Amino acid sequence: MNHIVVFASGSGTNFQAIIDAVEEGRIEARINGLIASKPGIQALERARKHNIDTEVLIPSDFDTLAAYETKLLQTLERWDTDLIVLAGYMLKVPTAVLEQYPEKVINIHPSLLPKYGGKGFYGSNVHEAVLANGEKESGCTVHYVTEQYDEGPIIDQVKVPVRETDDAETLAARVLEQEHKLLPRVIADLVN
Ligand code: GAR
Repeated sequence: MNHIVVFASGSGTNFQAIIDAVEEGRIEARINGLIASKPGIQALERARKHNIDTEVLIPSDFDTLAAYETKLLQTLERWDTDLIVLAGYMLKVPTAVLEQYPEKVINIHPSLLPKYGGKGFYGSNVHEAVLANGEKESGCTVHYVTEQYDEGPIIDQVKVPVRETDDAETLAARVLEQEHKLLPRVIADLVN
C-alpha cells in the first residue's frame, strides 16, 4: 500500500477531500503524515481528528536552509513516503526534496494552468486576476511539481464557467468544489 504525505498551509479542505477518499476506499493508500507550514492552521486540526501524524516545519525556525531540508527529508523518510501531495501549500518545496522524490510530488492549483500560475498567483489572487481579465472560464489543475512554480507537467484539469455576477469568493467556491473531486481522483489514478 502506498503512503501519502500531504503538505498544507491553510484550511485544508483539499486535505479533507483526500482523507474522505481514503476512508471511503476510493484511494487505496494510507495518509502517513501532514506537513504544515505554520502552526494553528485548520489542516492540523483535521489531521488530529483522523489520527494522522503532523509536523509543523517553518524555514525561518532553522538556522540554515540545509538544516530545514534535512529535517524535511528525515520526516518524509520516517513516514516512508511514496507520494507527496501539496494541498494548498504556499511555500516552495526545496530542490533536495524534489531530487529525492522525482515525479512523486504533485500540486493542486486553482486555475487552468499555464494561465494564472507562477509567483504571486495563489489563493484569491488567482481568482481576482481571472475576473479582472474578463475570462469566460476558469478551473483547477493538478500537476507534477518541478523547480519552477506551477510549471511542471499537467496531469489533469477541470473547467468551470466564470459568471458575470462572480466575485473572487463565488468563483473560488466553484473552483474549490471541483478541486475536491479532481485531486482525490488523480491520486487514486496514481496509487490504486
Ligand atoms: C486551494 O484553492 C488550492 O488550489 C490553492 O489554495 C487553496 C487551498 O484551500 N492553492 C494554491 O493557490 C497553490 N498555489 P484548502 O486549504 O482549503 O485546500
